[in-house]
Amino acid sequence: MTLVRMREWVRGGLMVAAALASGAPGLAQAAEVQPSTRATAATPPMGWNSWNKFACNVSEQTVRAAADAIVASGMRDAGYHYVVIDDCWQGPRDKDGFITADAKTFPSGIAALAEYIHSKGLKFGIYSDAGALTCAGRSGSQGHEFQDAQTYARWGVDYLKYDWCSTGSRNADEAYSLMARALAASGRAIVLSMCEWGSNKPWLFTPFPGQLWRTTGDISDVWDAKDTNRLGVINIADRNESLWRYAGPGHWNDPDMLEVGNGGLSDDEARAHFSLWAVMASPLMAGNDLAAMTPATHDILTNREAIAVNQDALGVQGHRIAQQGDSEIWTKPLSGGRQAVLLLNRGEQPTAIKAAWAQLGWPAATRAGIRDVWAHRDLPRAAEGVTMTVPPHGVQLLVVDAR
Ligand code: GLA
Repeated sequence: MTLVRMREWVRGGLMVAAALASGAPGLAQAAEVQPSTRATAATPPMGWNSWNKFACNVSEQTVRAAADAIVASGMRDAGYHYVVIDDCWQGPRDKDGFITADAKTFPSGIAALAEYIHSKGLKFGIYSDAGALTCAGRSGSQGHEFQDAQTYARWGVDYLKYDWCSTGSRNADEAYSLMARALAASGRAIVLSMCEWGSNKPWLFTPFPGQLWRTTGDISDVWDAKDTNRLGVINIADRNESLWRYAGPGHWNDPDMLEVGNGGLSDDEARAHFSLWAVMASPLMAGNDLAAMTPATHDILTNREAIAVNQDALGVQGHRIAQQGDSEIWTKPLSGGRQAVLLLNRGEQPTAIKAAWAQLGWPAATRAGIRDVWAHRDLPRAAEGVTMTVPPHGVQLLVVDAR
């Protein structure tokens, strides 16, 4: 062990010992040593994660290429800041219990990768699990929480996705709160992305241990999975929608990472996916091969008007306000008294959908400004409402302004 690592390890050990000596609540006191290091996420986190496209076929080249492409494609400048390695980066623990990187796929080590990502003006994220093993069978953090948090801080990690495999009868609130305290005690602000799939209703944990929490099982690269073993885009949107009251600045519902650009969705479906995630104030973590995007995928992921809806400072999660057959209207209140209006067609035929101002809580006589987010154009101001044709499995996304 080097001197620096030994000092960190002793410091962490002392905090844990002090906490244990004073009973369980003492763990919270340990974190209070450096309360200012708790990360914040005033708007939904944005970035890229390796899992949806690369799963366990991830390497330092994959992650460096993603960082290069996020910059070259303009995505960084559009707000995608976190580059996150999901499962399968881990090697064994060393003789002192420190986690190491997989020597074959990450031979330069994680600190060097983090440094590369930071040098691009990006932030760096990593993955672990509250159980003994991750979902892919690598080493999890159970029993090593403070040690791992210190390691992440030393490496320059800014974001931790923390999964829930092999956790047996662990209490989820306690397990996530323990890692939150370990991160806070690490001396580095590290966003905690909780990934227990909504099984334990993490939106009810108080105080929120992390800044975002998955609300569902894993997303599949299809519009509608139509079976109970998988979840497509629309199935996830339906589940996440009803939780809208629990989201807000610093604490977000996470309906999983984007499948835009992975091949299973038509361009209309991909625009609908992105728009639904925008309106639901969902974290926007691209999950495709950024170095090989079609122009359509690029234009979807970098639509700054849709991103502005997602990142709006009010931080309210939008939800469905009307449904008739396959036609739906979703709204999201925006700063400045504006509203985002999403017209969604779940059906197989193009259909006209009308949103009336009265449904948005405005007098029918209001002559509202209407911005078409996908066409990037203003529609004529109109009283009463707006009607638009919506493609199958598609949306129209508007920003309306009563002023
Ligand atoms: C779980 C998570 C996924 C991904 C995999 C990795 O299934 O929900 O998002 O992180 O584990 O093994």
